[in-house]
Amino acid sequence: MTDRFYTSPELADTLLSFAPRNQPKLIADFACGEGSLLLAAERRNPDARMLANDISRGTISKARRQRPEWQYSCTDFLNPMSVRPSGLRHHHGKVDLVVINPPFSRRDRKTYSVELSGTQFSATIATAFLVNCIPYLSAVGALLAVLPDGCLVSTQDSAVWEELRRSFRIEIIRDNSRSAFAQVRARTCLVRLTRAVDQLPQEANDAVSGAVSVVRGSCQMHSRQRSRALAAAALVHTTHLKGGTVLDSAERVKGKAIEGPALLFPRVGLVTPDKVCILEDGRRIVLSDCVLAVRCKSALEASTMRTRILDAWPSFAASFRGTGAPYITVERASNILSSILTESAVQNRCAMATVEAGAD
Ligand SMILES: C[S@@+](CC[C@H](N)C(=O)[O-])C[C@H]1O[C@@H](n2cnc3c(N)ncnc32)[C@H](O)[C@@H]1O
Repeated sequence: MTDRFYTSPELADTLLSFAPRNQPKLIADFACGEGSLLLAAERRNPDARMLANDISRGTISKARRQRPEWQYSCTDFLNPMSVRPSGLRHHHGKVDLVVINPPFSRRDRKTYSVELSGTQFSATIATAFLVNCIPYLSAVGALLAVLPDGCLVSTQDSAVWEELRRSFRIEIIRDNSRSAFAQVRARTCLVRLTRAVDQLPQEANDAVSGAVSVVRGSCQMHSRQRSRALAAAALVHTTHLKGGTVLDSAERVKGKAIEGPALLFPRVGLVTPDKVCILEDGRRIVLSDCVLAVRCKSALEASTMRTRILDAWPSFAASFRGTGAPYITVERASNILSSILTESAVQNRCAMATVEAGAD
């Protein structure tokens, strides 16, 4: 079963607008279909060579008629036995830009065995496809992908993404609307992988491996119990999250309290930068179950984390999804926060390295 949901020229152009600003010499799509991603890449890089692969012979013949000057192969990119004799591997380490909208139908729930950094992983189809692209990337290589929503945060793929984050900066650059592909119900997002300038520092790896602990409020709004006890803490619901601070709440309720410093943000509903709020040191509150919290060691940590979330706003906001009101799960929130903090740790390290180099 092969997916044939081709990318529209408009979406392909949007994806390519996020390509790094260097001049790629070789651009590849390993599931090229009718070639819309490579055509968009060619419009921006008329001098680059194009490498097109697809499992379907008919598709490759059609693409070849349209662009005889491109280089073609016809392999099952998920099957090493198919790729090996094709000569495709001669391009390992030579592709400056990979563009992919891989197959992602998961009707058969199959997983694929892939190798990354010398380790075998089991991954869902779209992630496996992306991992198989990695050896082709050149030293300055980047990858732009249309991926199914949730691919980056699925439990089945979490080990692979964690490994990828050790060598790549991974950004969700856009959350596509449901209508991006005719007849497709799954939501998709646009993702960019660029090489981390250096090996990730240890502290960044620690952040990826789950150092960010997100807790969900426990007070259900419809069944909350008011309390007159002096020791009872004030209820904080999404309506109290405003302007980056937690507004005073007159309502005291029974329930498990948490104490600042912490960073609070909504679990459900439209998230805006305004609603990512700092809970001050020592302030005790009971959280509504529509609010999530990250406990922090200091007020400085809470405010730094807030700044970093705002700096990476498109990625953070794109983690709120759902068929009705958008929402984020505890797991998704801790994954995206780990990813954001990792990236900024790498950037800081690079900035420090630049300053140190300049000081010489
Ligand atoms: C979702 S379409 C995307 C096509 C094109 N890249 C685009 O964006 O319009 C997926 C393509 O992957 C191809 N495909 C599916 N399984 C494949 C595999 N195992 N190896 C290589 N190509 C595959 C299909 O034939 C199809 O053309």
